Amino acid sequence: MRTFHQIAELRAHIRAARDEGSTIGFVPTMGALHEGHLSLIRRSVTDCDRTVVSIFVNPAQFGPQEDFAQYPRDLARDSKLCQEEGIDALFVPSAEDMYPPDADTWIDVPGLSSSLEGAIRPGHFRGVATVCAKLFNIVQPHRAYFGQKDYQQLLVIQRMVADLNLPVTIVPSPTVREPDGLAMSSRNAYLDPEARKAALVLSRALMSAQAMYEAGTRSAHTLRDALRSVIGEEHAAELDYAEIAHPRTLEPLEYIEDGAVALAAIRVAGTRLIDNVLLGVGLNHQPRRAG
Ligand code: PAJ
Repeated sequence: MRTFHQIAELRAHIRAARDEGSTIGFVPTMGALHEGHLSLIRRSVTDCDRTVVSIFVNPAQFGPQEDFAQYPRDLARDSKLCQEEGIDALFVPSAEDMYPPDADTWIDVPGLSSSLEGAIRPGHFRGVATVCAKLFNIVQPHRAYFGQKDYQQLLVIQRMVADLNLPVTIVPSPTVREPDGLAMSSRNAYLDPEARKAALVLSRALMSAQAMYEAGTRSAHTLRDALRSVIGEEHAAELDYAEIAHPRTLEPLEYIEDGAVALAAIRVAGTRLIDNVLLGVGLNHQPRRAG
């Protein structure tokens, strides 16, 4: 495994690999790697000749009051994990190289970015879309792997790739959970044992909505109320949102005909946690076409 800090050096390395005919898989991350990240890396290593992982805590996707400064960083540990997975290149750019002072171009995907996470974190998806477009242009992968854990992010990236004709295939991958159901997240490191226990309400609420769906409930109102009432029982958790939405457009649903996604976000002891489950559709679900 080689580690690159310079954009030009990584580009030269990839160009040579592509000239040899290698397929390039890419896993963008912000580091503090856990089993969720590793599941994406393993899929890429299995599918592609060479895998590139990036670690960049992207300042553009954090709001001024958010946890950019505290975000966990441990390059030595992350680098060892990547090496063990057999990746080809680790890319760790600096903020100065990614965002020179005169940079002035942003990518906005307003429809999908306006609700849910986007409503609570203005500018977040603009930062995500911009950094991913830049990383795709730098790495030029054939495939890029994204987790269902950040479902809205996945849709924003798929929309951007389609709209801008970017020559990369986005591969979605299921959420990896702790044995008790908590979705793995770099932010779980912020939770003390008490908060960790309270955080379980998020996956518990989503799983109970999923069980109700599987038992036949199709009223999105009923499922939404169930989500909110389970979360409401945990006094240490503050609800940001709990929604039953269309799996491609994220528009709130009244009645589920063609599948849905249940998404929720809570705050526990100052830590924001998000999670989601799909109801009646797979992760590779494509919209039904008329005719
Ligand atoms: P980060 O939170 O580090 O996540 C990197 C990738 O890992 C994302 O695609 C995310 O969905 C996936 N992931 C995180 N937790 C997961 C889990 N429990 N199971 C499966 N996949 C999981 O998401 C970002 O970084 C950034 O926004 C980024 C795309 C790198 C742009 O800066």
